[in-house]
Amino acid sequence: MKKDMEKILFSEEQIEEIVTRMAAEIDADYEGKDLLLIGVLKGSILFMSDLMKKIQNKCRIDFMVVSSYADGTVSTGRVNILKDVSMSVEGKNLLIIEDIIDSGNTLHFLDQYLTAKGAASVKIATLFDKPDRRRMDVPVQYVGAVIPDEFIVGYGLDYAEYYRNLPYVGVLKPEIYSE
Ligand code: IMP
Ligand code: MG
Repeated sequence: MKKDMEKILFSEEQIEEIVTRMAAEIDADYEGKDLLLIGVLKGSILFMSDLMKKIQNKCRIDFMVVSSYADGTVSTGRVNILKDVSMSVEGKNLLIIEDIIDSGNTLHFLDQYLTAKGAASVKIATLFDKPDRRRMDVPVQYVGAVIPDEFIVGYGLDYAEYYRNLPYVGVLKPEIYSE
């Protein structure tokens, strides 16, 4: 896979530093509160597992699967729930765990959806933020790193479902997208 990469933006070590910092912020804010982490699959898989290991507070986890992208790199704007949360979110403090916020469509939708289900609070932690492409204004409380408008892969993020297993994050060579 390494030969497909044009450049590496975040090494394993840099990602670990970011995740450690985010876990500390979350711990400080949720101390003494009952926290439910909701991982948005599949992109958040590595972030979620590393982050939850570093969170010291008692918490529970659940997952949702949503799709807003086809196989390409441009959002379709529609969000479909492929798998909903498995436990009740009513009265709970939710923290949505997402890999990246791009247009904001996915998180805008999830925020509204989970709030409508009666959550006590809904906040968002995203590993990456691409603010240049925002179309929906969404308040995001925890951001790992702000990145320029480039399509990134690795550490859970995919291109056409590949590259999620890279332990680092980078940009693919242009010819990979045209294959
Ligand atoms: P949004 O709804 O446009 O904010 O898109 C959010 C989702 O699009 C993320 O959860 C990712 O799955 C996907 N996505 C957005 N940008 C990238 C990227 O640079 N690489 C891989 N996936 C991305
Ligand atoms: Mg995705």
